[in-house]
Amino acid sequence: MSYLMSNYTPLSVTFVKGEGCTLIDTQGEKYLDALSGVGVVSLGHCHKDITAAIQTQAGELLHTSNWYHIAHQESLAEKLCKLSNMDNVFFSNSGAEANEAAIKIARLHGHFNNIDNPVILTANQSFHGRTMATLSATGNAKVQAGFAPLVSEFIHINFNDVDAIKAHINNNNIVAIMLEPIQGESGVIVPKNNYLNKVQEICRSHNWLLILDEVQTGVGRTGEMFAHQYNNITPDVLTLAKGLGNGMPIGACLAKGNAAKIFTPGTHGSTFGGNPLACKTALSVLEVIEKDKLLDNVTKMGGYLVSNFHEKLSNSNKVVEIRAKGLMIAIELNQDCKHLLGEALDKHLLINITGRSIRLLPPLIINQTEADIIINTVCDLIEGLQ
Ligand SMILES: Cc1ncc(COP(=O)(O)O)c(C=O)c1O
Repeated sequence: MSYLMSNYTPLSVTFVKGEGCTLIDTQGEKYLDALSGVGVVSLGHCHKDITAAIQTQAGELLHTSNWYHIAHQESLAEKLCKLSNMDNVFFSNSGAEANEAAIKIARLHGHFNNIDNPVILTANQSFHGRTMATLSATGNAKVQAGFAPLVSEFIHINFNDVDAIKAHINNNNIVAIMLEPIQGESGVIVPKNNYLNKVQEICRSHNWLLILDEVQTGVGRTGEMFAHQYNNITPDVLTLAKGLGNGMPIGACLAKGNAAKIFTPGTHGSTFGGNPLACKTALSVLEVIEKDKLLDNVTKMGGYLVSNFHEKLSNSNKVVEIRAKGLMIAIELNQDCKHLLGEALDKHLLINITGRSIRLLPPLIINQTEADIIINTVCDLIEGLQ
C-alpha cells in the first residue's frame, strides 16, 4: 500500500544513484537516461560542478525570503537577461508558476490598456502546466477534464498557422499570445521557420504581448540557449524552468520593455522563488553550459542521432515521421506504442512515449557511445513492433 495520491503511474524501478547519463537502481543495475527526468537533468546526474555548488551553498545559506536582497538572485537575473536580451526576471519554483506569472503580466497589460476582460491566445496541443490558469491555457482536453470551470479566457488556435491568429485580430480583448516555440509534450512539433517572426509582427501591430513558454525548449535543449533565438526575435515575456536547475526546482519569468515594469510591489510573489540555493545552482548550470560548449554538443549529437535514425529507419513501414530540434527528438509511429516504455526499460533505456511517438530528451552532455546505444535500442524496439 502506498500513502501517495494516485496521480502518477510510476514504472517498476527505483533509482538510488546517478552519474552522467546513467542511473543506477536498487539492484545496482545501470540504465541509460534518454529522458533526463523529462528535460531537466541537462548536465547529467550529479554533475560535479553542480554538486559542489549545492554543497557549498547549503553550508552557507539556503533561504532568507524575498524580504531581503539575495545576491545570487541578482546575479542570475543579470546573467539570464544578458543571455536572452530581456530586461527583468521574476523567479518561481516550477514551469507552471513561471507561466502563471506570465499570465498575470498579460492580464495587467490588458487592464492598463482599459481592457476589462483580457483574452490570451494559446495553441491547440500546447502544454503550459497543471495549475488552474496554466491548465486552462493548455490546449489539451485531457489535461482540463474534470476541472471546470476553467480560468477564462484563453482562446485556442491551431499551432503553426498564422491565419488562425489573424482570424482574431478584430477581437479587441486580446492582450497576448502564449506559445511554445516547439511543442514538447505533444510530441516535438516544430513550426515553420518563420512562424514565430510572423506571430511577433502581429503582436507588435496590435499591442499584444508575445509570451514564449520555453520551460522545455530553453537553456540549451534545442542547440541555442533559447529556441526563439533561431528566429532572431526577442519576446515580451519568456518563461523557463526544467533545465535551468538541473534538478534543483527553479522557474523564471523574464520580461522586456513595458512588460518588464508591470509587476509592482504586492502584485506577485513566492516564498521560495529565487532562494539562494536554487539561484546559485542555476548560475552554475549556465556556467557549465558555456564552459563546456554544450550548445555545440547539442547540435552535434542531435544531428548524429537524427541522421542515424533517418538512415536506419528509412525502410521501416512503422515510422511516420521523425521530428527534432537539437536534443528534442520524436519518432512518430503508425500505431499506439505505450508498451515500448516498459520494453525500453527492460533494455535499460529510459524514454518517453507521447501519443504514437517515441520521445527522447537526453542530457545535453551525451556522447557518441551513448547516442549509439540509444539509436540501436530504439531501432530494435521499432523493428520488434507487429
Ligand atoms: C512547455 C512547458 N510548459 C510548462 C510546463 C510545466 O512545468 P512544471 O511541470 O515545472 O510546472 C511544462 C512541463 O512539462 C512544459 O513542457
